[in-house]
Amino acid sequence: MRSNPEGEGWVPNITQAALKDYSDKDIVYLLETGNTPEGDSVGGAMAPVIRNTSQLTPQDREAMAVYIKSLPPVEGPKKPEKR
Ligand code: HEM
Repeated sequence: MRSNPEGEGWVPNITQAALKDYSDKDIVYLLETGNTPEGDSVGGAMAPVIRNTSQLTPQDREAMAVYIKSLPPVEGPKKPEKR
């Protein structure tokens, strides 16, 4: 995980270190709908990402998921406590 280059907030790690519980299908679903497998939804800097990835073909979202799952885990600093 790393701080948000845009300023406020936090951009979570998307390597296996943080997303090991996400299946390919979970990533595809998130990129299409903005919903996480826990039934939560992503906002902030993630909203424009979903706005774009929701318009891709299912095959392209699947390819992104396969790629993301292929990345080695990279550890980063812990998510800060909610203020
Ligand atoms: C294909 C690219 C991306 C994927 C697969 C992805 C995936 C994810 C996932 C799985 C989460 C939820 C993490 C969690 O709940 O622990 C998340 C949240 C988030 N992502 Fe992304 N992300 C991508 C690109 C980006 C980019 C480019 C940015 C910023 C410029 C970004 C910013 C954020 C932020 C700020 C959150 C937290 C949103 C919230 O708490 O509501 N992401 N992302």
